[in-house]
Amino acid sequence: MTHIIVNVIYFLTMILLLVATVWIVFSLLRSTLFGHAPFIPVMDHAIDPILSELDLGQDSLFIEIGCGNGKVLVAATQKFPQTKMIGIEHDLVPYFIARFNTRKLPNVSIVRQNFFSYDFSKATHLFAYLLPGVMDDLGGKLDRELQPGTILVSCDFKISRKQPLRIVTVSAKKSDLAKNLFIYKW
Ligand SMILES: C[S@@+](CC[C@H](N)C(=O)[O-])C[C@H]1O[C@@H](n2cnc3c(N)ncnc32)[C@H](O)[C@@H]1O
Repeated sequence: MTHIIVNVIYFLTMILLLVATVWIVFSLLRSTLFGHAPFIPVMDHAIDPILSELDLGQDSLFIEIGCGNGKVLVAATQKFPQTKMIGIEHDLVPYFIARFNTRKLPNVSIVRQNFFSYDFSKATHLFAYLLPGVMDDLGGKLDRELQPGTILVSCDFKISRKQPLRIVTVSAKKSDLAKNLFIYKW
């Protein structure tokens, strides 16, 4: 009898582990599989130029569209500790890492949500590091929701039908992923 109970517990544990593994892998790859933008943290050399372009103030509301592991929010808090910041992330693994990395930052909230269903109307500053198609899909939504004067810094990918205020080159190295920042103002 004990032998059967041990086998049943072993079997159930294996099933649970399998389900958890599939869930974590699916969650990690969801953005990649569905073409939204995979979890690739922005390279370090781009951080300072991103923060300089954002130039946040005490009354700003900074929202990161797809915040990954929260790396930009952590760096932004070091430079602008008074600014309220929100990171939107729908993939489970980066979401939990971002929650952990920002756990001691009272000015930062991480929201687990698809950013296509998030209301950006209160944002004053935005940062995105996504994909060209995603930026184009987001463009119309941002046009409808953003207040005049809102700034968007987009790393490497532009909104093709919108004229950027300026383009800032952050690296000319072929091997670097983050090369340009597209600065938009509504
Ligand atoms: C290229 S990574 C950039 C992460 C972070 N912004 C950075 O620069 O380090 C893009 C992130 O956006 C997230 N993402 C992609 N599509 C999303 C969606 N529709 N809603 C919420 N998050 C999304 C991905 O899970 C991924 O973590």
